Amino acid sequence: MTPIIPPFPRARPRRGRSSPARRAMIRENTVSTEDLIWPLFVTDVPGADIEIPSMPGVSRLTIDGVSRAAERAAELGIPAVCLFPHADRSLRTEACEEAWNPDNLTNRATRAVKAAAPEIAVMTDAALDPYNVHGHDGLVRDGVILNDESVEALVKMAVAQADAGADIIGPSDMMDGRVGAMRDALEAAGHHDSMILSYSAKYASGFYGPFRDAVGTSGALKGDKRTYQLDPANADEAMRMIARDLREGADMVMVKPGMPYLDICRRAKDAFGAPTAAYQVSGEYAMLVAAERHGWLDGDSAVMESLTCFKRAGCDMILTYFAPRAADILRG
Ligand code: PBG
Repeated sequence: MTPIIPPFPRARPRRGRSSPARRAMIRENTVSTEDLIWPLFVTDVPGADIEIPSMPGVSRLTIDGVSRAAERAAELGIPAVCLFPHADRSLRTEACEEAWNPDNLTNRATRAVKAAAPEIAVMTDAALDPYNVHGHDGLVRDGVILNDESVEALVKMAVAQADAGADIIGPSDMMDGRVGAMRDALEAAGHHDSMILSYSAKYASGFYGPFRDAVGTSGALKGDKRTYQLDPANADEAMRMIARDLREGADMVMVKPGMPYLDICRRAKDAFGAPTAAYQVSGEYAMLVAAERHGWLDGDSAVMESLTCFKRAGCDMILTYFAPRAADILRG
């Protein structure tokens, strides 16, 4: 595209910015409540349904609390929630069996949300970390993350989530081959309509700290996740991962974290044109809220700007802890 800009004063680009009406007509991207997916933390540990210190304004919820949040999402017009379990310590084991228990916390919460707000799409996280004594997303033996054994476990987990009524399975583990294996197993189990939103470009990021506090894995995690999550220095590799996941049967793909990775969002959308999500992660939430609470920036405008920028970068969907706040702001 070659923009045609006559010389000043024939061109006065400020003409288009001089009133709200003119700006509205010229605006290229807008964020709507329908673009938002609201991540929720669920716990059944007595007394653990409290605010997360590193995420002011975000609390772990009981299953009842999650149902009420889903009803609120429905009122606000938020189409989907994403469930993350804070499981009791005693359920965290080497083999992570709780992950595919049909009555585990996520699956009970999914059924409760579906009963309370059937129109809300439920997304679940397929990764072993909430139930892993090591805090890792895959099975660990002698300090090594086992790929193929982890995929087998993740497939059982994904099918149990679909059985419980999850609309969207979100593999966030970054093992090789998991999307194809999950797709085959979902088909074989008759779950032809289960969507997979793959965390395809998930980076080994320093911005996940508050999330690990929220689900209670910060203490357990030894080392880091760099043998499976992507190197923040790489962009071409992210494109290869997205291409692979789409070929394996992902319906939608995700870039995570969000704000520091907008270049990846744009490239993903341009290269593949698939439904693309960004995850504005816990550390991004914490940064904005911390600055706001210090009086260092105007929270509402920074939040809406950050969400609009995901749309400008080509994202169709945004997972954000600000979902209900943004919905309120958009309602005016
Ligand atoms: C775990 C998982 C993580 C997040 C979503 N799923 C953390 C991790 O990979 O350690 C991060 C979300 C956030 O920071 O808000 N499978």
